[in-house]
Amino acid sequence: MKSNKIIYVMGVSGVGKSTIGELLSQKLGIPYFDGDYYHSKANVDKMTAAIPLNDDDRQAWLETLNNLAKEQLKTNSCIIVCSALKQKYRVILNAGIDEPIHWVYLKGSYEQIKQRIEARDDHYMSSKLLASQFEILEEPKDCIAIDITLSPTEIVEKLKKQLTEKTEFGLFGLGVMGKSLARNLAQKGFSISVFNRHVAGIEENVAVNFKNEFEELSDSLAFDDLQSFVNSMERPRKIMLMVNAGKITDAVIGDLLPYLSEGDILIDGGNSNYRDTKERADYLKLKYIYFVGAGVSGGEEGALKGPSIMPGGELAAYKKVQPYLEAIAAKDKNDLPCCTYIGEEGSGHFVKMVHNGIEYVEMQLLGEIYSVLTAMGNNPDEIAAILESYKLTANSYLLEITEAIFRKKEGNDWLVNKIMDKAGNKGTGNWTTITTAELGIPSTLIASALFARYTSFYKEERIEAHSNFGSNIQPDLDIKAILDAYQFARIINHYQGFKLISEAGKAHNWNLNLSELARIWTNGCIIKSDLMVDLVEVLKESDNILTHSKIVELVKTLKPSANKVVSECVLAELPITSLSEALQFLNSYATANSSANIIQAQRDFFGAHTYQRIDDASGKFHHTNWK
Ligand code: 6PG
Repeated sequence: MKSNKIIYVMGVSGVGKSTIGELLSQKLGIPYFDGDYYHSKANVDKMTAAIPLNDDDRQAWLETLNNLAKEQLKTNSCIIVCSALKQKYRVILNAGIDEPIHWVYLKGSYEQIKQRIEARDDHYMSSKLLASQFEILEEPKDCIAIDITLSPTEIVEKLKKQLTEKTEFGLFGLGVMGKSLARNLAQKGFSISVFNRHVAGIEENVAVNFKNEFEELSDSLAFDDLQSFVNSMERPRKIMLMVNAGKITDAVIGDLLPYLSEGDILIDGGNSNYRDTKERADYLKLKYIYFVGAGVSGGEEGALKGPSIMPGGELAAYKKVQPYLEAIAAKDKNDLPCCTYIGEEGSGHFVKMVHNGIEYVEMQLLGEIYSVLTAMGNNPDEIAAILESYKLTANSYLLEITEAIFRKKEGNDWLVNKIMDKAGNKGTGNWTTITTAELGIPSTLIASALFARYTSFYKEERIEAHSNFGSNIQPDLDIKAILDAYQFARIINHYQGFKLISEAGKAHNWNLNLSELARIWTNGCIIKSDLMVDLVEVLKESDNILTHSKIVELVKTLKPSANKVVSECVLAELPITSLSEALQFLNSYATANSSANIIQAQRDFFGAHTYQRIDDASGKFHHTNWK
């Protein structure tokens, strides 16, 4: 898993770079190149004549060394020794290198180095140049700084330790998801650094305790000190943030920034709002830090065994984290990773947001089926048995866990009977609903599922309303009709979800591949299902699943049951907001001549908003004086 790396040993002339470079080369078993031998004759002449080199003199030399580094990295790691006194020189030396770069800065005082130079008579570097070197020296911020009062053997020992102990990936935030992802990375053989903040009395030694708890983390490095955490990683650093979305994410980025270096990559694996992700990426770009907003689905178990990952951001940055994300992701039926590059900044979190919108509906539909089956007189065990039978035709992760939920008992009663019926949320369904409204796309099921959660929160009012308006009418339905209505509503849900993604893709100029999205949702994520597996093929042929012949036939077959179930539930006064909305949506969508002409007439009547005519193909807008 380890990639080649470049080690630049820098410092003013006479500091002992060549000696250290050579010894380090023997110690690490990698080649070493002395930058002094790559100077042009003109540069050597100048230095011998004690004339300081200027930036123009150095430009070609630095480019030569940069090319040397790139050439070497194709086959091996290497050490290059050169003064690299200014930050801009180091930028040239780093240019176009994707592999980890380490800067070793040999640090000594002017007096100390002067003495060394004066003791040497074979070197073209005159001690007179030393003062000018110190004048232009910009000490590197991010480097392994070594005090040259140590003996060369001590220096090389120290360097070996620091260079070989660098890890390749960092995990920031050891909540439930962070811990699972960290273990997943370690199990795949990556060397990782993990970090959790220190909060006295509340979060103490979280990272160290976590490392000690799991065998697979024995080679990992654990920190609660931010600077050491950042310094423990190879450059460019790849740090996955697993923290709460919102202000905390911004605070964490702010805390990390002073320690990061150009080219480092932050991956936000939280459920962040895609607009925030875009803003963060733009802000960090100004600081030459890459930001990959990655949707991660699968909960605790998915994160450990393989989640579905939806990364967005600059492609160059994604390429550097791709091997890690693909290795930890779930695998589809063809053993391909359930991780794919989604598109530019914000697109990964957008797609994850819609994933959650689809998730809200899938959950709500199962909740509604529970209401119907309960009203028909079934207890939780009986409902579990019915759901188990549904697995044959409509299997999904959510169906499986819901069946398990109904079987769970506490004492003599089912646990589900003891859970307060107020559904929480963390915001993604809300954002999806706002976004779809803003884009002018009717994702009505997502809104219905979100509002059903909000309605559930009126617990006290609902109790009172029940005494005024409630009823206990038993619906007359068979189990197969309910299954068909459920499948029908799920198809409409998936149609709306993919439609929203497809339209948003056009609005934002993201080049989205819906079939590929469906593919990465076939495993690892909360909405994985047999239907999703079918949609991978369907979406290869059409972005609109309701135009695909297979789906059209299926919807036609299922719709009579949806009509029956919804009608019967309306008569039984049962709340089936998403089931009925699925039907209502299809009825509206399948109405060739709708009542919207009346809306247009009304708008024109009271506000002269004009209307188009079906007998005027030009599309021109007309106004009528209605009175
Ligand atoms: C997932 C889930 C996950 C999570 C949400 C919960 O894909 O793993 O979507 O991200 O369940 O945090 O969302 P609500 O709290 O809004 O239901």
